[in-house]
Amino acid sequence: MAHRIGVMGGDGIGPEVVAEGLKVVSAAGVEFETVDYDLGGNRYLRDGTILPDSVVDEWRDLDALYVGAVGTPDVPPGVIERGLLLKMRFDLDLYVNLRPFVLADAGIDFCVVRENTEGAYAGEGGFLRKDTPQEVATQGSVNTRMGVERCVRYAFDLARSRRGHLTLVHKTNVLTFSGDLWERTFAEVTGEYADVETAYNHVDAACIYFVQDPQRYDVIVTDNLFGDILTDLGGAVSGGIGFASSANLNPARTGASMFEPVHGSAPDITGKGIANPTAAILSAAMMLDFLGEDAAADRIRTACADPATQVEGTVAIGDAIAARVG
Ligand code: IPM
Ligand code: MN
Repeated sequence: MAHRIGVMGGDGIGPEVVAEGLKVVSAAGVEFETVDYDLGGNRYLRDGTILPDSVVDEWRDLDALYVGAVGTPDVPPGVIERGLLLKMRFDLDLYVNLRPFVLADAGIDFCVVRENTEGAYAGEGGFLRKDTPQEVATQGSVNTRMGVERCVRYAFDLARSRRGHLTLVHKTNVLTFSGDLWERTFAEVTGEYADVETAYNHVDAACIYFVQDPQRYDVIVTDNLFGDILTDLGGAVSGGIGFASSANLNPARTGASMFEPVHGSAPDITGKGIANPTAAILSAAMMLDFLGEDAAADRIRTACADPATQVEGTVAIGDAIAARVG
C-alpha cells in the first residue's frame, strides 16, 4: 500500500530541498501519496496561523511527516520554534531525535540519540518583576524517569544493532540532580544489555572528542539541549550541515514520526537554487527506514555518499542522486 506522507516544505529553502527529496523517493520506486501543509513563518505572517490542534490530529493518522525548514527573520524568535516545531515534537510524542553522522573516508560513523520532549525545552520557568531593574528569569530543565528511560532504551537497542557501543553525554559534575537521574537510569538499563559496551563523557569533553577523535563514537545518548548543540558540531565535523539529516521519532508509533534536515531555512540563499538538498534527501532515507523500505533507503544513502552526485545546484544534485537510486 502507498505510504501517506504529510509534507511541510516550510520557509526559505525548505520547499526547494523537500522537492528534491520527494523526487529521489519516487525514483527509488517507493509508492507514496502526499498531503501538503502550508505552515511556517510565512503562513504565520499571512494570517496568524501557527499549528492548529485539528492539524495535529490529522497528522496522527499519517505514516510520516516530511519537513523542509521553518522560520523567517521577520517573526520574533520562539514563535514558530515553540508554536510549530516543539508543539509537533511534544504533541506527537516524538521522544527520540536521531541524528546520524557519517564521513566514510574519515572513518566517522556515529549517531546521536537526543531526548526530544523534555529538558530545557519543556518550557518550565518564567519571569519575576519583568522590565524592572530587579528582573528575574528562570528556565528549568525537566527530566522525568519515564522520559529518560525510554530514550536510553532506544539508544541501547540502536547500539546493539550497530557496533555495540553507547556513550552517555551529560554534565553530571555540575547538574547533580538531572545528571544523577540520567546516570542512575543509564546504569540500571545497562544491566539488561550485557552485550553493549558503555562509556560516559562530560559534554565539554565530548566537544573536544567531536573535533579531535569522532571515530571513537558509535551511539551517543544525551539530553535535549546538549543534543541540540552537539549535533550542530557533529554536522560541522562530518561534511557540513548540508549533509546532516534527522528523524524525530515516536518509536511507539502512536503518532506519525517526522523527518527533516538539521539545517534551517537559510533565507540568505532562498530562491537561488544553490541549497544542497542532500541533508533533506538523507532525511527522506531515514523516513524510508522507518516505513520499512530499507532497500530503497540504502540505495539513497549510497548515492548520497558518491562524490559524483555533489554537483552544482539544488536541482542538479537531486537529479544526480535520483539517477542512481532506481
Ligand atoms: C534543531 C533546531 C531546533 C531545536 C530549533 C529550530 C527549535 O535547532 O532541530 O536542532 O533547537 O531543536
Ligand atoms: Mn539545533
